[in-house]
Amino acid sequence: MKIGIDRMAFATTNEYIDLRELAKVRGVDPNKYTIGIGQDQQAVVPPTQDIVTLGAAAARKLMTKQVGDHLSTIIVATESGVDNSKASAINIKELLGLNDYVRAVELKEACYAGTAGIQFARGLVALHPQETVLVIATDIARYGLQTAGEVTQGAGAVAMLISATPHILAIEPTSVNLTKDVMDFWRPLYATEAMVDGKYSTNVYVDFFKQVFTRYQMMTGRQFNDFAGLIFHLPFTKMGKKALEGALGDRHDQVATRLRTALTASQLYCRQVGNVYTGSLYLALLSFLQNRQVNAGDRLGLFSYGSGAEGEFYTGIVQPHFLDHTNDVQAMLQKRHQVSITEYEDMFNHQLGMDEQDVEFDLSNDHAPFVLAGQKNHQRIYKRQ
Ligand code: COA
Repeated sequence: MKIGIDRMAFATTNEYIDLRELAKVRGVDPNKYTIGIGQDQQAVVPPTQDIVTLGAAAARKLMTKQVGDHLSTIIVATESGVDNSKASAINIKELLGLNDYVRAVELKEACYAGTAGIQFARGLVALHPQETVLVIATDIARYGLQTAGEVTQGAGAVAMLISATPHILAIEPTSVNLTKDVMDFWRPLYATEAMVDGKYSTNVYVDFFKQVFTRYQMMTGRQFNDFAGLIFHLPFTKMGKKALEGALGDRHDQVATRLRTALTASQLYCRQVGNVYTGSLYLALLSFLQNRQVNAGDRLGLFSYGSGAEGEFYTGIVQPHFLDHTNDVQAMLQKRHQVSITEYEDMFNHQLGMDEQDVEFDLSNDHAPFVLAGQKNHQRIYKRQ
């Protein structure tokens, strides 16, 4: 039985900054951001958006009555959850107006949990092939103003339907996982910004990719030439380049060129959005599928990495007419509007965060389908518009 990704959609905020402007204000050479780190723009999050509103906006694009009727489970993967107890999947289910007879949970392991959600969904669909599982990878990457990580922030959500009729990617059975207790990136319960040992995390990531890919090669006998593309988790686009170059070394043959070109296609959306933590690998997959000549039957390798640390390499086969089952991300990004660095800093500083007070946000500037209207009696108030 084929099981895999049936449909995919991405949502982000309507606001972004140009990182050349950020570089100017921070007194940094813009080439460091655009070439050295590989980022051009960054999604900016107004106080009226969070992982629930973004996740619901992405999932809404996949919902039809038929999908709703067959949906058994909603899995939300996030590093930036809004409650330490209640699953954001329940808020999203409510905003989408879904049937009560579904299972709704939240998963956590830094940027890796979206992949865990997909693998768990595969198991559920194998048991009940007529059912569909909605996996939503939704995150807001916050490192803090004027920190080294600031240029690698971002926000967005990728929603995916996992079913026994995968119209995008049929996932193959072999995958390799690697888990090690590593403190490269973490966020204590009292912090709204991530703590990161950036250089260390970069090295751990590259090392994890080498380990899981080598083990995969030993298990399957497959080599680089078996892949139309290797898709990487992209906390910033240079990261994928470091991992691929680390594995290819000084190879410059046809296969190596194909993989480098594939990487460039997979980086285009991350360059404009920034880090989406759990969703980054899947935004890279969308970017690859929509910007590279891909054929049905092509094999793709996916490397998922979550600091802490968890890595997984798995593969899938591209399905016919896959593009008909994705939303046009570039068209959506072109509709966003640019904000100044001062506006970005203001929005950054006015998030609900750990604030315990009642608050009512001005919604007049937010035209997204779902908004965070404020907080009352320690409860977030969401609205459909
Ligand atoms: N022109 C071109 N490139 C330049 C440059 C310039 N003027 N100035 C610097 N660079 C390059 C550096 O050579 C370096 O490239 P390299 O990594 O290939 O060697 C890169 O830009 C970054 O410079 P560096 O001085 O290392 O940056 P930094 O100390 O400000 O930190 C990160 C960069 C990525 C480590 C930091 O943004 C971070 O910690 N981000 C979060 C990391 C993360 O997401 N971790 C989770 C991984 S899953």
